[in-house]
This record gives sequence, structure tokens and C-alpha cells, in this order.
Amino acid sequence: MIVARTKEEIFGPLAALRARGERLALVPTMGYLHEGHLSLVRRAKELADRVAVSIFVNPAQFGPREDFARYPRDLEGDLDKCEKAGVWMVFAPSDPRVMYREDHSTWVDVEGSLTEGLCAASRPGHFRGVATVVLKLFNLFRPDVALFGKKDYQQLAVIRQMVEDLDLSPHLEIVAGETVREPDGLALSSRNAYLSESERRRALSLYRGLSRARERFEKGERSAAVLIEAARAVIEPEVDRLDYLEVVDARSLVPVKRIEAPACMLVAAFVGSTRLIDNVELG
Ligand code: PAF
Repeated sequence: MIVARTKEEIFGPLAALRARGERLALVPTMGYLHEGHLSLVRRAKELADRVAVSIFVNPAQFGPREDFARYPRDLEGDLDKCEKAGVWMVFAPSDPRVMYREDHSTWVDVEGSLTEGLCAASRPGHFRGVATVVLKLFNLFRPDVALFGKKDYQQLAVIRQMVEDLDLSPHLEIVAGETVREPDGLALSSRNAYLSESERRRALSLYRGLSRARERFEKGERSAAVLIEAARAVIEPEVDRLDYLEVVDARSLVPVKRIEAPACMLVAAFVGSTRLIDNVELG
């Protein structure tokens, strides 16, 4: 497995891969890899000849009071997992300056309904940081396919929009991976590492609340308010702060009152000081 710590180290192997006419899949991550990431790698291997994984805790997507400094990191463990998973190359910039020169001043802003509500409301600038780093990774690797998890539902929508708007789509396919969960339902997230045992138990309410809403939806309930109330009753007593709990149109992410087209219920909540997100597709 090739481990690249600088941009320059990517280019030689990439040129050789292109010369061999091989297809490349990219799985962008911030590391501290779990089964969710590894399921994307496995899917990537089915879709391409070679899989590259980027591991970069991107400072540009963290707000000043967020957890950039303490975000969990374990490069050695991640490299081991990638090696075992059959990854071709890991790009793990040795320093944020590898990705952002001191005078970096170009940013990608996806505007409109996709970045007005939900996580964008409580994390200003977050999606600008995500879109910018993801476009930089696309430019560096020029992958044929890139994979992202559905747990970050809004991020996936923002990236799809950017890919369409900036005409990357003829050459690049975005593939979404299902959220991977613990046996009891907790969505896998690198941030679960912050949770104490009792917080972890309370965090499970997110999945339980969403599941309660989905059951009501499957029985025919179409009122967003009723579904939100069903989920809220489970989640709110268990979390320290409910950031949002909404039913939105699956494409535009605009809140809906009645579900008449594919929709998604999304939640973000603080358990202790850890902010967790989860979602469930409705229809
Ligand atoms: O989902 C993540 O881990 C990050 O937001 C991403 C897409 C790797 C960009 O830094």
C-alpha cells in the first residue's frame, strides 16, 4: 500500500495507474476509521480497479469552538485497517499546510436550500470547508468514482450539487453508502469515541426516535409534525440539547409538512458535549 504524505507523492503512482487504464475510486475521510468507512472501501473495490483513501482532519470545516483539536486521530491504526482492506493508496497529509498554503483564499460555497438549514444553521462555514476540501481532493486524484456515507446526509447532498454545478459529473460518479450501525442501532461515527458508557446509552435514543417515526410512516402517517412529535418524545428526554429534528424533501432538503415525495428525517443532538447526527429515509 502506498502512503502519501504530500501531494507530490500522489502524482507518480497516479500517472502509472492512468497509463495502465485503471479505474480509481476515492473514499475521502477524516480518519479514525470504523466499519462505516470500511464498508465504503469494500463498495469502492467493486466499482474500480484501485481504491485511494484520504485521511485528513480538515480544519476548514470546524468552527472556532468546535472539536478540531480533540477530533480522534489514529493514523497507525487507520493504515493497518486500510492495508487489510486492500486499499491501494492512503493520502494522509502530514500537516494542514499540505492542503492549505498560508495564502489559501479560494473557497467553494454551495448556496441555496442545501446549506441554509440543518447542520448549516448551527455550523456556519462547515459546508464551505467540506466542499472546498472535497473539490481539492477530486482535483488531486481525478477519481472515476467517489464514495460518501449517508449518515452525513446533508454533506452528501452538498457534494452532489457541487459535482453537478461545477461539471464534474461527466467524469465522476458519486456513490452513497448506507449508514452502518452497531447491533443496537447506534450509527457508527468517529465521534462516538467521545461518549461515556451512560452517554452512549442515551445516544441510542436518536436511532430509537427515528425508528419510531419510520414505523409510524410505514403504517401510513404522512404528517411531518406527527412524525417529528413521535421521534421527539423518544429523543428529547435523553439528550442534553436537541439541535434540530426535521422532515425535509430528500433532494432539496427543504422542510415539508406532508410527505408526498421521498423525504428524510434528520436529527442532530448533543449528548454531553458530543454533537451527534443521524437520519432515516422516508419513502
Ligand atoms: O465526512 C467526512 O469525513 C468529511 O466531511 C470529508 C468528506 C472527508 C471532508 O473532510
